[in-house]
This record gives sequence, structure tokens and C-alpha cells, in this order.
Amino acid sequence: MATYDLIVIGAGPGGYVCAIRAAQLGLKVGVAEGRATLGGACLNVGCIPSKALLHATHELHEANHNFARMGLMVDPPKVDWARMLGYKDEVIASNTGGIEFLFKKNKIDWIKGFASIPAPGQVKVGDETHEARAIVIASGSQSSTLPGVTIDEEVVVTSTGALALPSIPATMVVIGAGVIGLEMGSVYARLGTKVTVVEYLDAITPGMDAEVSKQFQRLLQKQGLQFVLGTAVQGVERTDTGATVIHKSRKDGREARLDADVVLVATGRKPYVDGLGLDALGVQMTPRGQIATDARFATSVPGIYAIGDVREGPMLAHKAEDEGTAVAEILAGQHGHVNYGVIPSVIYTTPEVASVGLTEEQLKAEGRAYKVGKFPFLGNARAKAVFQGEGFVKILADATTDRILGAHLIGPMAGDLIHEVAVAMEFGAAAEDLARTCHAHPTFSEAVREAALACGDGAIHA
Ligand code: FAD
Ligand code: NAI
Repeated sequence: MATYDLIVIGAGPGGYVCAIRAAQLGLKVGVAEGRATLGGACLNVGCIPSKALLHATHELHEANHNFARMGLMVDPPKVDWARMLGYKDEVIASNTGGIEFLFKKNKIDWIKGFASIPAPGQVKVGDETHEARAIVIASGSQSSTLPGVTIDEEVVVTSTGALALPSIPATMVVIGAGVIGLEMGSVYARLGTKVTVVEYLDAITPGMDAEVSKQFQRLLQKQGLQFVLGTAVQGVERTDTGATVIHKSRKDGREARLDADVVLVATGRKPYVDGLGLDALGVQMTPRGQIATDARFATSVPGIYAIGDVREGPMLAHKAEDEGTAVAEILAGQHGHVNYGVIPSVIYTTPEVASVGLTEEQLKAEGRAYKVGKFPFLGNARAKAVFQGEGFVKILADATTDRILGAHLIGPMAGDLIHEVAVAMEFGAAAEDLARTCHAHPTFSEAVREAALACGDGAIHA
């Protein structure tokens, strides 16, 4: 048994960042993690492996579609799927190993195994009970499924199964046109799989700026993904060769069936709290099954806190990380804080899609007077040079004060470009502040400046 200032349960982006920050601030920290490697869902079966496969298949797409245009004459590349999965596993291992190194460097104890909380101030792992002044639950989330759909992780898979299929399927049905469905759907479409995405709502990526969503769907269709929208999945049946997805149109109630070698269920994730013993402790939960917390991440039980996917808010690694930092600072007597109004979100397809702040739909619903500055990547020399002129940057600013309220991008490096706007928003900048900042030429970021200019007198290259 050991006594700690802080025990964190879960070593995902929320938990490991919390542990490191707390150790930096002088706390004695232990982290309980039941997985064989650190890093949580993000590093093991989420952000990192999906980005590795997106990268490899993007390169394949470039070789097949754009190399010859640039005078690079190669035989069409062949895919060695086992090696591609091996590359993905290497990327995972180097990242999870990196967290283990950081734990050692910061003198954080990894308490190996799944933990429960028998009483406030106590964490039990195996037969050992450890004491802690504070406990932070960062146990993350797991895939949710639908009634009538049984996951077997072979033919009917979640993202975890989709990241390690034994072979490249000829056909795949993806249920859910959210982030996982479109990222993993893109991976397989680029590998030659015929991908059909079935979505309950009438548009892909619910919550996203509607103009971006439409353009995104158009570009994905050009890449071969097919969409069946406004359709509720009723069930999935296993067949001799794969599975059949039974779905029903929400408009006319017509039922139809789709056969596929593999079905990816990507209809959202839910908080993971199994085995923690929260019921017995009386920890209050929200109606959506999340751990209820106050603004300082405290649960209803003194000394127990919760961060990341297990509590409310977007299920994003960087949101979990920022909450980890904030709660560590609060526990060390500082004033940790997360600005939920400026959390970027990114979809790592080609082109990338990124947004921060409010959408036009939200501004309209709030009845706020706003202006729109838009600039197409077709007017950006660098984007044209790399055959990625099809997206745009859209900046929304207050009609009177010019203060930036949101930005929505679809185009090359959108996931990196968005941070220029995020930083500007953190400083309360006006669109004119971005517009007057000198941007290097030729960079994709000039498109952001041009959109900011378009909020005022007008872009130069439009
Ligand atoms: P997790 O990362 O889920 O970590 C929780 C950890 O707690 C797990 O390792 C689990 O084993 C451990 N644990 C649970 N219970 C116990 C217990 N009782 N005792 C000990 N250990 C326990 N987000 C992004 O921002 N960008 C992306 O590109 C992105 N891509 C994704 C791709 C996929 C396919 C998926 C599934 C998710 C993706 N996400 C992405 C979401 C991101 O992975 C999560 O938001 C993030 O991992 C949440 O971090 P967390 O620390 O809250 O929990
Ligand atoms: P999601 O919430 O993004 O999308 C789920 C989709 O499934 C929605 O469009 C929803 O309308 C649809 N759906 C629900 N029920 C349905 C039904 N019966 N039939 C058809 N469609 C149905 O969830 P997803 O993609 O599973 O991702 C889970 C979480 O992981 C997300 O919250 C996301 O934040 C995170 N993530 C983030 C990534 C990133 O930041 N790049 C990448 C992957 C995941």
C-alpha cells in the first residue's frame, strides 16, 4: 500500500496529462491503468492509429492520382496490408512508450491494473488498496452500439476492429456519418473498398457548419464514398459472407437492405465507468450516463474529481488534456481553467475539416448580428500547387465590434490553420487584427488572412 497526494484512474490524454502536470507542481502521483500500455483509447485505438492509417492511405491516393500530373512516373503502388498495420502498430508503440518515459521522468507510479474506489480517499487495484488525498477519474469512453446490432469485432466492428481488420474488405457499410465513420470510411475507400455510409440525419457531421458539411460530402463522394442519408438502421444480420444492414427511410418508411463484407458501427461513444463502484459511493451521474461535476471538476463526493470523455463536453483528446491540466492546477492550489468556447475540432480526412467557436446556424439561433468573411482555396497559390483548391475558409465576426466569433475551414492543413484563429479568439481579436497580420507567402495560412480581410473591405485574391 502506498499513500499519494493524487491517484488518477486512467492513463488516456486526460489522465496522463493530469498526472504529469500534478507531478510538475510537486504532488506525489500514482496512475491506475488496466491496459497493457499507457495512452488510453487515443494512443492505442483512437486518434493515433487512425491518423497513421489516414496518412498511409493519403500517400497511396497521391501516388495513384497526382504523381503522374507532377511528372513522377511510378508503377501503381501495391498495398501490403500486413505491413501497413505493422507501421500503424509501430506508431502506437512509439507514442505509448513515450508516455511511459514521461511517467518515469516525472516520478509517477504506474499502478498496473483496473481500479475501483472502495471509499473516498481509497483506490483498490488487485489486492492492494492505496490512499490518496484526491482521486481523479479519467476512465474515458467506449463505443456505443444500436438496438438490433451485435458487435463481434470481426464482421460487425467498432473503430477498434476497423483499425485491425485481417484483410481489406471489398465492401463496407459504415453506420453513422460522424467523425469516426468518415475518417475510417476514407481509409478504406482509398484502399479500394466500396464504402457506403448510412446516416440517420439528413446531413453528414451533425453540428458542423452546414456549408462546410455540404462541401465535405461532395468531396467525399468524389473520392468514392456513397451516402444514404435520413435513414435509420433497424438491425444488422450476419450472413455467410459478411452481414446485411437493414435500414428504413425516415421520410417514407421504406425499408431496404445493404450487404457488406464488414459493417462499421460508428454511432457515438459513451462514458466508461464499469467496475469503479460509483453507485455504492453515491457519485451523481447525468441523465446521459456521464459523471456529474461542477466547474472545478469535483463530483458530488468530496475528494473525487472527473475529467475527459467520462464527463460532459466534446469527446476530444485535447479537451481531456486541458481538463487534466486544469484539475491538476486546482489540486495544487492554483486556478486551472478551460475555455470551452475555444476548443477546436478537426476531421483528418483529405481535405481536412476544422472548426472553432460558433457556427452560422448557432449565431442565427441566438439572433446575433454577424458578418461572414469567406475565401476559397482556389485563390491560394500554394493550395493550387498541391491540387487542393476545393475548400474554403469562413470566418464569422460580430457585425458591430468585428470580434471573431468562429471559423470553419475545409482544405489543406485546415487542422493546423484553425489554431491561428483559436489563438486570436483567446486574445479577443477582431477579424481586422488577423487581416493586418503579415502572413508569409506562399502558405495555406494566407487563405485565413484573406477570409479575415473579407470580413472587412474585401479579400485581395477573390
Ligand atoms: P481514454 O483515452 O478513453 O482513456 C481512459 C483510460 O482509462 C483507458 O486506457 C482505460 O483502460 C482506463 N481505465 C478505464 N477504467 C479504468 C479503471 N477502472 N482502472 C484503470 N484504468 C481504467 N480525439 C481527438 O481529439 N482527435 C482525434 O483525432 C481522435 N480520433 C479518434 C479516433 C477514434 C477511432 C476514437 C475511438 C476516438 C478518437 N478521438 C479523437 C477521441 C479521443 O480518443 C478521446 O476523446 C480521448 O481518448 C479521451 O481521453 P480520456 O483520457 O478521457 O479517456
Ligand atoms: P459521432 O457522434 O461523431 O457521430 C455519430 C453519427 O452516427 C451521427 O452522425 C449520428 O447521427 C449517427 N447515428 C446515430 N444513430 C444512428 C442510426 N441508428 N443510424 C444511422 N446513423 C446513426 O460519433 P463517432 O463518429 O462514433 O465518434 C465518437 C467520438 O469520437 C466523437 O464524439 C468524436 O468527438 C470522437 N472522435 C474524434 C475524432 C477527431 O477529433 N478527429 C476522430 C474520431 C472520433
